[in-house]
Amino acid sequence: MNAFVSALGVAGFGFGLARPLFRTEDIPQAAFTGSAGTQPVVRLRNFTRRFGDNDIIKDLSLDIAPGEFVSLLGRSGSGKTTLLRTLAGIDQLHADIAGQEIRIPPTRAVVFQDARLLPWKRVWRNVALGLKGLDIRSRAETALREVGLDHRLEAWPLTLSGGEAQRTALARALVRDPQLLLMDEPFAALDALTRLRVHDLVLRLWSVHRPAVMLVTHDVDEAIALSDRILVLDQGRIVAEERIDTPRGQRLALTADLREKLLSFLGTGRIGDDADIAEVFADKPNIPFSPDEDFRA
Ligand SMILES: Nc1ncnc2c1ncn2[C@@H]1O[C@H](COP(=O)(O)OP(=O)(O)O)[C@@H](O)[C@H]1O
Ligand SMILES: [Mg+2]
Repeated sequence: MNAFVSALGVAGFGFGLARPLFRTEDIPQAAFTGSAGTQPVVRLRNFTRRFGDNDIIKDLSLDIAPGEFVSLLGRSGSGKTTLLRTLAGIDQLHADIAGQEIRIPPTRAVVFQDARLLPWKRVWRNVALGLKGLDIRSRAETALREVGLDHRLEAWPLTLSGGEAQRTALARALVRDPQLLLMDEPFAALDALTRLRVHDLVLRLWSVHRPAVMLVTHDVDEAIALSDRILVLDQGRIVAEERIDTPRGQRLALTADLREKLLSFLGTGRIGDDADIAEVFADKPNIPFSPDEDFRA
């Protein structure tokens, strides 16, 4: 058996506090160094995922360091959710692929685009779902306090706003203290202002709990504001990688150039086929289309 899933311990963190670019405070932030001796919390080698005869992910290799915040961009159908499901340990894996190696940490949590709350359970019970032990209620309360929802403990999910529902989903993820937090377009359905507030919240929670994060997003600016590293996936391969060392409080200056680069990679090929990418371009009509530019790390 070539494929295996094994547990890795967290080998320590090297991060400072972080804030998104829409905050004026200048918060120091140590970027992931990838230095020798730091065990990755995720390690994929030659990972291939097939549906029928189609290789949806092909020979993909990826390390994520403990506490590293990685964003994954890519057009619809490029394999982002497939990759995320693998890192979540949700999917059955092919065991017959030579050289394939898949290591994910034992504690993982996923936040999806829709909050996926059970409508017949009160908010705190949704957060406590699946927890074991005597102090379940107080753990759920603590997590909900962290996301600013301690006043909504007893509420029914259907009475929550979109932002509150996603904050509840975040609390449900964080109450498990995951080594790896996976988010699949979690902010896509939120209005712009709420999205910025939730970005801020996510960065604060990340700086306190320090999970490694894999965030799937269509929003290039969101990726730039939040990440230590951005990957672009195209047809199941990583076609671009950008590491951002600039502190999160000082990213406005680099946003234009970097956004242009990333969009050029996202834009190669069939833009017209893809509603999501068309949407990304919709409010950025002046982004030049330069598929030949090579900015691989
Ligand atoms: N369970 C499945 N069975 C067959 N094909 C699938 C399955 N899941 C995903 N796919 C295909 O794999 C490709 C990548 O899908 P997905 O990972 O959801 O892309 P993304 O999240 O980037 O939009 C798509 O072509 C999709 O149709
Ligand atoms: Mg998807």
